Amino acid sequence: MYNAAVLTVSDKGYTGQREDLSGPLIMEMLREAGYNVLSLSIVPDEQVLIAAKLRELADTQDAAMLLTTGGTGFAPRDVTPEATLSVVDKVCPGIPEAMRAASMQVTDRAMLSRAVAGIRGKCLIINLPGSPKAVKENLEAVLPALGHGLDMLRGEQKDHT
Ligand code: MTE
Repeated sequence: MYNAAVLTVSDKGYTGQREDLSGPLIMEMLREAGYNVLSLSIVPDEQVLIAAKLRELADTQDAAMLLTTGGTGFAPRDVTPEATLSVVDKVCPGIPEAMRAASMQVTDRAMLSRAVAGIRGKCLIINLPGSPKAVKENLEAVLPALGHGLDMLRGEQKDHT
């Protein structure tokens, strides 16, 4: 069972102006998929704060996977992808490609997500959009394949069978 942590990126969620529904939804989906969910954190849309929290969760909590929600669009304060790219060692383009391909079947607004994914040390970081609907549609598209990726990343499966 892999550890996973969730990070909600939202100015309104951080100040309590809007209830965070997406973070708890991700936790529920991860638990259903067999992950041990360590924590749900909330930060405002500030690149430095997002990056610092991602580093902390990846480096000190032994999370195999970090899922963020929010801040992937075109609004001036949407900087989650930039914060993520600033902390990863490797980029994993196939994951957001798969999310956007699946989401385009639902809405052409899927192309407006700038979500990225990458690896920091032994932790896979994936951005998801902000709304609960978008979270569900994006995460459902990739979750079944992620276990194999984590097995490779964590060194628990050496051969491709
Ligand atoms: N993907 C799916 N599957 N369903 C959606 O409703 N919304 C899109 C997109 N991806 C959406 C989606 C919209 S409208 C935006 S603006 C972007 O995700 C970015 O969302 P964010 O700014 O909340 O991160």
